[in-house]
Amino acid sequence: MARQVFGRAASELIRARYSVRTYQEQPLEEGLAQRLRAGLVAPPAPPFGSPVRLGLLQAFDPTRKGVEKLGTYGVIRGARDYLTGAVGASARSMEDFGYVFEWAVLLATDLGLGTCWLGGTFQRGAFGRALGTRPDEVVPAASPVGLAADHKRFLERALRFFANSDNRKPFAELCVEGAPDDPCTELEAGPLREPLEAVRLAPSASNKQPWRMWLERDRSRCHLFLVRNPGYGLLPGVDLQRIDMGIAMCHFGLVAAEQGLAGRWQDQAGSAPGWSGHEYVATWA
Ligand SMILES: Cc1cc2nc3c(=O)[nH]c(=O)nc-3n(C[C@H](O)[C@H](O)[C@H](O)COP(=O)(O)O)c2cc1C
Repeated sequence: MARQVFGRAASELIRARYSVRTYQEQPLEEGLAQRLRAGLVAPPAPPFGSPVRLGLLQAFDPTRKGVEKLGTYGVIRGARDYLTGAVGASARSMEDFGYVFEWAVLLATDLGLGTCWLGGTFQRGAFGRALGTRPDEVVPAASPVGLAADHKRFLERALRFFANSDNRKPFAELCVEGAPDDPCTELEAGPLREPLEAVRLAPSASNKQPWRMWLERDRSRCHLFLVRNPGYGLLPGVDLQRIDMGIAMCHFGLVAAEQGLAGRWQDQAGSAPGWSGHEYVATWA
């Protein structure tokens, strides 16, 4: 991952980020908006090369006649500004979008701003029109961006409770070593411990945490798999659990770079191990 413009370590930002659904009712301070925009025009290249572009939108600009409100079905309150993005059609567009958009989320986190991935509860059409999407593009997600309010609303606390958002599965439930029935603990992961921990801490749609990692015993390669919740997260043109995979690849790559580990995500489907009930996504090597 070549581009890293964060002031703080990525591993620190990954730990600091959480979904903020209640915001102070004020627009982004101009200096922060400028720094965000400067980053959004030059995001890192995603692993599979899909054309991803990002934008910063205002929820409602009263000075522009006829501009529609960017709605979130009441899930987000107080936010005046939104990050969103579009990706052109390609086989791996969802992973690539997840990768780039999570980088933007961490950029906002670095600027002290709250965010919340929205893949379902946002008016996709209105965001697309405001961004100016082409017919071959989809808008997989958006996120409010702004200063978190001092208190969480009841709805926000309820959403966190039902998604169990404060918890993650244990490391050894997500990682195996050499075989499906050989769980790998933090201690056994060796140099890959921090990048794998960064995956474990990642946000995922409804906090389903569908990422599974297969480490080769000699640590030469690490394979990422998707264990799908059947029927979940499939919307027209959008696959939320493939977006989760891109977020995982972003976290892993940033923290591997921070640790000085060589490697990159690549498609090695031909030589990756088969894992029943799991979809192969990519290999770090
Ligand atoms: C791809 C994706 C889509 C999401 N969609 C929504 C959404 O539509 N509405 C919402 O309130 N939260 C959404 N979330 C936020 C998750 O519920 C949240 O990340 C998860 O519960 C973990 O909580 P945390 O982000 O505070 O760590 C989404 C997250 C991801 C990664």
